[in-house]
Amino acid sequence: MKTGIKNKNIILGVCGGIAAYKSVELLRLLKKQGADVRVIMTKNALEFVGPMTFEALSGHAVCKDLFADTDDASIKHIEWASAADAVVIAPATANIIGKCANGIADDALSTFMLAVTSPVLLCPSMNTNMYLSRPVQKNLETLASYGYVIAEPGAGELACGTSGPGRLPDPPEILDRLTGCLTPKDLKDKKILITAGPTREAIDPVRFISNPSSGKMGYAVARAAEHRGASVVLITGPVNLPDPMNVTVVKVTSAQEMASVVFDYMEQSDVIVKTAAVSDFRPKEPAKQKIKKGDKDEATLFLVKNQDILKELGRRKKDHQILVGFAAETEELERNAGKKLEEKNLDMIAGNLVNHPGSGFATDTNQVTLFHRNGTKEPLSAMGKDEIAHILLDRVLDKIILLDRVLDKIKAQF
Ligand code: PMT
Repeated sequence: MKTGIKNKNIILGVCGGIAAYKSVELLRLLKKQGADVRVIMTKNALEFVGPMTFEALSGHAVCKDLFADTDDASIKHIEWASAADAVVIAPATANIIGKCANGIADDALSTFMLAVTSPVLLCPSMNTNMYLSRPVQKNLETLASYGYVIAEPGAGELACGTSGPGRLPDPPEILDRLTGCLTPKDLKDKKILITAGPTREAIDPVRFISNPSSGKMGYAVARAAEHRGASVVLITGPVNLPDPMNVTVVKVTSAQEMASVVFDYMEQSDVIVKTAAVSDFRPKEPAKQKIKKGDKDEATLFLVKNQDILKELGRRKKDHQILVGFAAETEELERNAGKKLEEKNLDMIAGNLVNHPGSGFATDTNQVTLFHRNGTKEPLSAMGKDEIAHILLDRVLDKIILLDRVLDKIKAQF
């Protein structure tokens, strides 16, 4: 699936709020992703940020006025509306929310909003009491019922001195939501369970055995699945990443904890993707207190095997479920990944050589070969983990469609 912001025509609406400075960063991120962005500013927005910054970054004149005395300004709202792939209003004030909800068109942005038919992401940002007021909440409900996507504002200390919801989400979060708006919902109604990150196996209260997994690969799969409309549960070891939006995140530490939560969620899942780097062994008896080094030159750690969670999932797997593993290898990728595919009863395994630059642990990119149950293999070139996540989910979708056909045929025979 071709997803993302690249080559998309995006309209960025900027209203008059203290958070308007964040839309400059949002515009920069959108441009970095390869979008063509045009900016519409309200009169009040001009009080907070000058249009020159937006013009320099977008490469287009900013639309500020319906009746500006320039060649093309008078029909901009129609032209831009028909060319838009998506609209994001950030920050969205109570004023623009009220106008959009009630069909009021009295300036460039509100008039444009009546003409646009593409997906709209609205990012409210205002004083907490204003945000929670009944008229604003009612208007937001109305807009949600019209199909607008509303980005929940963050909570915290606001510029006006109050504390509570009303803060504009950070630009990367808005970008993520916008990507979701542009992604077809081909995994709608599917329940997907994803594991990510490392596990930590305690040696004593301050030391543990682990590995360098950053969680980036698993979180990318979770984000991609959520963007495609799936209901996602992400079970993650300790990582330093923000929780993906609209995803149920369960944080665990050890392999045993991960196993217990995974088995709790297994039955209700249509698809399980095990990206986590689970420790194969754990110290048999973690010390209750910090181990003192004393005067010994050597120490012995007695390890016991952790349960192979994926193998157990493969054993319990039902006919309608799709099970995907990852294989982290340093040699003989095909042989080792193929063996895991077979032994763990998987539908697909993504093999990556973790000792290659730009691949495996903690990188933003990965180089993966997909091995399928029917014996075919699909080497992918090195690419971003988000892109790999989408390709992996494309293949999962193919398998779901195939499986549904087979199950329908079986049902028809009885
Ligand atoms: O998190 P990142 O920094 O982005 O790095 C991504 C990654 C390198 C961790 C990821 O791409 C990857 O390869 N994940 C699998 C890591 C791993 O544990 O591989 P493995 O070959 O040891 O295990 C094979 C499969 O069995 C994996 O799906 C693993 O989750 C599962 N397993 C392993 C051991 C165990 N006790 N229980 C398991 O479920």
